[in-house]
Amino acid sequence: MSRGISVQYLGHSCFLLTTAKAKILLDPFLTGNPRAATTAEKVPADFILVSHAHGDHYGDAVAIAKRTGATIVAPYELALHAGAQGAKVHPMGCGGGKDFPFGRVQLTVAHHSSSVDEGGKVISVANPVGFLIRADGKTIYFAGDTALTMDMDLLGRRNPIDLALLPIGDNFTMGPSDAAEAVRLLKAKRAVPMHYNTFDLIEVDPAIFKKESEKHGCQVDVLKSGECIEI
Ligand code: NI
Ligand code: MN
Repeated sequence: MSRGISVQYLGHSCFLLTTAKAKILLDPFLTGNPRAATTAEKVPADFILVSHAHGDHYGDAVAIAKRTGATIVAPYELALHAGAQGAKVHPMGCGGGKDFPFGRVQLTVAHHSSSVDEGGKVISVANPVGFLIRADGKTIYFAGDTALTMDMDLLGRRNPIDLALLPIGDNFTMGPSDAAEAVRLLKAKRAVPMHYNTFDLIEVDPAIFKKESEKHGCQVDVLKSGECIEI
């Protein structure tokens, strides 16, 4: 019997997963994040999963990778972008899965965009993705930034989702009601909302998401930045 995974919310869409074999950091936007629970200088990581190139996700990934020696796992062109800055990287493509020492990562469809701003010039870098992460007998779905999509039905039919990390902030991604429908399609046992209330444009009430998701038999934990759950 494994001891399970600890899932710590670090603010916005950033989480630290502590599995038996590795610390996995998701979308490390800490510098400039008004809700960051830690800093890029302190956070530990063995692997850094980055869903897309927007600053509120790619954020501190390269700096943390260089400091810790962690490997950045990202969609192909984004991995090349990070690698060109000196980070250790592992490129993947949407739909592709790979066994790592801690477990398996598969890239999932996300309907969104992905770009970097280089000196005022906006350049598209890779297609955005989400991640299915299997470790210690558990499956976590991290949606990244995305619209509600029927692809989630497919994910839910083919994978037992023990925990879904879903954006609910509206404007750029699903809002609370669409995210609750995502919970239903995914048949998620448990969910944690992310990507809301960091900035004015994504101010929403997570209680709406919690109430609607619970109708689908899903346990929702609305975490404050820094809080942790075990699955
Ligand atoms: Ni984005
Ligand atoms: Mn975002």
